[in-house]
Amino acid sequence: MKVLLTGGRGLLGAPLAACLRADGADVRVTDVPEVDVTNGAAVRAVLDEFAPDVVVHLAAWTDVDACERDPERAHSVNAEGTRHVAEACVAAGARMLYVSTDYVFDGRSGAPYTEADTTRPLSAYGRSKLEGERHVRESGVGGWIVRCQSIYGRGKKSFADAILLRARAGEELRVVTDQTVCPTYADDLAALLSATVARAADGLYLAANTGACTWHEFARAVLDESGFAELPIAEITAADLGRDAPRPTNSRFDCSALESAAQHALRPWREALRDYLAAQRGSVPTATDAECDGGRS
Ligand SMILES: NC(=O)c1ccc[n+]([C@@H]2O[C@H](COP(=O)([O-])OP(=O)(O)OC[C@H]3O[C@@H](n4cnc5c(N)ncnc54)[C@H](OP(=O)(O)O)[C@@H]3O)[C@@H](O)[C@H]2O)c1
Repeated sequence: MKVLLTGGRGLLGAPLAACLRADGADVRVTDVPEVDVTNGAAVRAVLDEFAPDVVVHLAAWTDVDACERDPERAHSVNAEGTRHVAEACVAAGARMLYVSTDYVFDGRSGAPYTEADTTRPLSAYGRSKLEGERHVRESGVGGWIVRCQSIYGRGKKSFADAILLRARAGEELRVVTDQTVCPTYADDLAALLSATVARAADGLYLAANTGACTWHEFARAVLDESGFAELPIAEITAADLGRDAPRPTNSRFDCSALESAAQHALRPWREALRDYLAAQRGSVPTATDAECDGGRS
């Protein structure tokens, strides 16, 4: 199977390419500048040339606060870019996996979200990703829309690394208590997405490691698992942080539909975090923008 990734050099793209290759796929990784999804002709050209069976569309402008300040650019990359990819897939006879986000929800549900829940994005980023979903559906392309969330892993802007960097530098830690998420290890999500492409019926799905916690609880777990159990973390609220874009307060997911469709279950978030930290031990964290609420989605 030939799989093409857009935005493939980001946080999720690197482990996904590795996972797809380990599962036997011939993978082509694209990203800016060579394949900018805002350029429909460039997208069509690479699909014509590589002739993929599946396109995993990861390319997005993921800086949620910057999207709030520049909603037109968010729309251009996340909505129009997705339309270009979906239309190119239809023309090339490829299937498409579009990675979407929990930010399509308003977070006001008291229960874990399922595929049946109503969307109501709070932010320009969430609206642009939801618009991308609409373009995928309207194009008629076959495949999957998978809403993910709260991803951490090796590489840029990872929340876990940011917390560790601050702890090692002796800086004060302040993390929000009023956002509940399902922290998701990029390597685990990559394995689930590879299984999705291999086995799942077409459709809309949610994907995350199991269980949920606040960002504060996640930061606590990062420190406890890294020898910083004695280090305090101040409790703050999203309002204290004053970010440009509002975030959902509840992003709990029920992922049973995809786990069953892909025949691949994800483990509890804390177990995944332990593995991630063990794999990172001895390496120097690369995050430079220590954040207090997970930042992106
Ligand atoms: N991270 C999360 O917690 C999270 C949660 C839910 C959903 N998602 C979704 O998951 C997907 C992958 O996210 P990620 O965390 O891997 O994000 P990421 O690290 O920001 O990767 C996205 C990649 O897309 C590239 N890109 C930006 N604009 C582009 C354009 N116009 N054309 C082509 N590529 C472009 C980025 O390049 P630059 O770095 O140079 O901009 C980056 O390499 C995204 O669709 C995101 O919306 C992420």
